[in-house]
Amino acid sequence: MQLEYILKSYARYAPVYDQTFGWMLSFRGRSMAVGVANRRPGKVLEVGVGTGISLRYYRKDHEVHGIDISPDMLAIAQRRVRKKNLTQVSSLRIMDARALEFENETFDCIVAAYVMSVVPEPAKVISEIERVCKPGGDVVIVNHFAAEKGFRRHLETLLAPFSNKLGWRPDMPAEEILSHTGLQEVRRYTLPPFGLFTLLHLRKPMEFRGLLES
Ligand SMILES: C[S@@+](CC[C@H](N)C(=O)[O-])C[C@H]1O[C@@H](n2cnc3c(N)ncnc32)[C@H](O)[C@@H]1O
Repeated sequence: MQLEYILKSYARYAPVYDQTFGWMLSFRGRSMAVGVANRRPGKVLEVGVGTGISLRYYRKDHEVHGIDISPDMLAIAQRRVRKKNLTQVSSLRIMDARALEFENETFDCIVAAYVMSVVPEPAKVISEIERVCKPGGDVVIVNHFAAEKGFRRHLETLLAPFSNKLGWRPDMPAEEILSHTGLQEVRRYTLPPFGLFTLLHLRKPMEFRGLLES
């Protein structure tokens, strides 16, 4: 995925995102992700917050920060926060998920819904997420991951050359993220429609040492 194409795609999608992709991508995935964040109060980061479609579900005593690379998507999120008076949202900033402008170990929970197969370098993004997560903190990734075999795998391979045009990579395996992180898998859920999406609940170990340090 190239940044130039991402910015163009999401400038195009932004005005209709909520009524199209926002609606088609599993709401169950988003509500389960927010559900993990809502288990305890604290500081939450939503990476690739987009139009802020999930923001109103966070508990009111959270301090929620959202970042996104697309000014067009973020402008809609900002309008939504104002209109719905979402007081739990502390900041919405234009930022590249590959270089998060937050201190190490800042957040209790980090949510990235339908983002990892959109970003240019998912390995960099997961290591940034890991860096800003507190020890013992939760990370929730909701995404479409490539099937291992069968018809779906065939289709994903056929669509892969059009990734830049589509604005996401249909053929990214979960291992592309998991092999670049010291975050530990807590649970994995398959989501509708047709099991096309996956929720990965990860956690940063308390005595965490980054892969680079070990
Ligand atoms: C499919 S949308 C998902 C939006 C939202 N999380 C949702 O659940 O609907 C993907 C989002 O990732 C953002 N994105 C892509 N690359 C990014 C990057 N490098 N840094 C931050 N956000 C990025 C896009 O601008 C877009 O808003």
